[in-house]
Amino acid sequence: MLNPAASLSKSAGDWSPSSWRSKPAAQQPNYPSDEKLQIALRALGELPPLVTSWEIEALKGQLAEAAAGRRFLLQGGDCAESFVDCTGAAVVNRIKILLQMSLVLVHGSEKPVIRVGRFAGQYAKPRSSDNETRDGATLPAYRGDLVNRKAFDESSRIPDPELMLRAYERAALTLNYTRALVRGGLADLHHPENWNIGFIQKAELATEYSQILDSVSHALRFMENVLGVHAEAMQRVDLFTSHEGLHLPYEEAITRQENDRWYNLSTHFPWIGARTTSPDGAHVEFFRGLANPIGMKVAEPESCLRVLDILDPDWEPGRVTLIHRFGAEKIQERLPKLIRAVKGSGRQVLWCCDPMHGNTKTTSTGIKTRHFGDILSELESSFDVHASEGTYLGGVHLELSGDDVTECIGGASGITEQDLARAYKSDVDPRLNYEQALEVAMLIAHRLRSV
Ligand code: PEP
Ligand code: CO
Repeated sequence: MLNPAASLSKSAGDWSPSSWRSKPAAQQPNYPSDEKLQIALRALGELPPLVTSWEIEALKGQLAEAAAGRRFLLQGGDCAESFVDCTGAAVVNRIKILLQMSLVLVHGSEKPVIRVGRFAGQYAKPRSSDNETRDGATLPAYRGDLVNRKAFDESSRIPDPELMLRAYERAALTLNYTRALVRGGLADLHHPENWNIGFIQKAELATEYSQILDSVSHALRFMENVLGVHAEAMQRVDLFTSHEGLHLPYEEAITRQENDRWYNLSTHFPWIGARTTSPDGAHVEFFRGLANPIGMKVAEPESCLRVLDILDPDWEPGRVTLIHRFGAEKIQERLPKLIRAVKGSGRQVLWCCDPMHGNTKTTSTGIKTRHFGDILSELESSFDVHASEGTYLGGVHLELSGDDVTECIGGASGITEQDLARAYKSDVDPRLNYEQALEVAMLIAHRLRSV
């Protein structure tokens, strides 16, 4: 429903891609040379876009359907992409796990699933402190490969504007290969065996997954052989990209005007991170003028309505996805307040649960991890609260890897604190590994069956 009180024409108002510059911008790097920064931004501004406005509009339409209860959003990928992990194998495995999870979700929900990766641009990270101190030495914090380098020495940590170009190129490489794989048949539902990544250790998980495969193959054969419908559409799927729109000069440089609307053409679906949602801040100002669908992380319900009024004065269908990430302990208390406030305003949003970012813990030896049980618990609570408030939980936002990493504790393969050292690869937050991700998909599918 459109906002009865708004007029479409006034919404963009005095906005321009650079109007955020008059507001306080959190989490931005300090480049030592403005001249070099401008050179890099000009170069970025001339490169071809990564995505098109019609793909963006198509996604917005699908998100609107999800908000209305007719689709489910699966958003997942790395916490932070890194240049060294921009490899063919990583791209393939990530697509495979997203396809496997979405198959499980489609089967469970009997609804189309919107697949959105956290990739092809997820290179900038917010930090809780501007600096990092080790053994008495203090240097600027690592802000992701878009900004500086991870090694703890002075020259690595100086923000380097050239890295924006390197990141953009890797985003293009990632997207190019992803599109080729998806178009070239990897996503063909007739051959889900191509999505196998490796051995599933837990027998029940393997059995349940193969039953789902059998049932989908059977339905497909029935449709084609008995009903005579050739399911060509099943050979292809849509896969959209998303990243946190954190580094504003970078995002501004890739924002272009088309048909009187401004699109951020570096990604289909940018989101505002939890640390940059201030209604008076530069990020909200920048996002307000974009025509893309927008995700917003919510950790504190308080200022959310004000931000929604700024970002979406017209109540455009599919415009805003609220990604709540309260943590397993706080969700029961905070989510009902948020839902009631948004419902009370009359607008419809897509509700999405991020069960990762409110559940990060540090082990006694200083390793950042998450407990699988906390992740499941936040998801379960999320479904419960939405059910009792009469709203539809229409999406999930996960940090996951298609590889056999050991970053989160628990799950089917029983990863312990001692196992973390074995294959901990994330540069920032701990991700679900392949098997844990599939297990989460099964849980969601069970819950969706009853919605
Ligand atoms: C993230 O998604 O990696 C992130 C930093 O999340 P949040 O903004 O919710 O803390
Ligand atoms: Co993260």
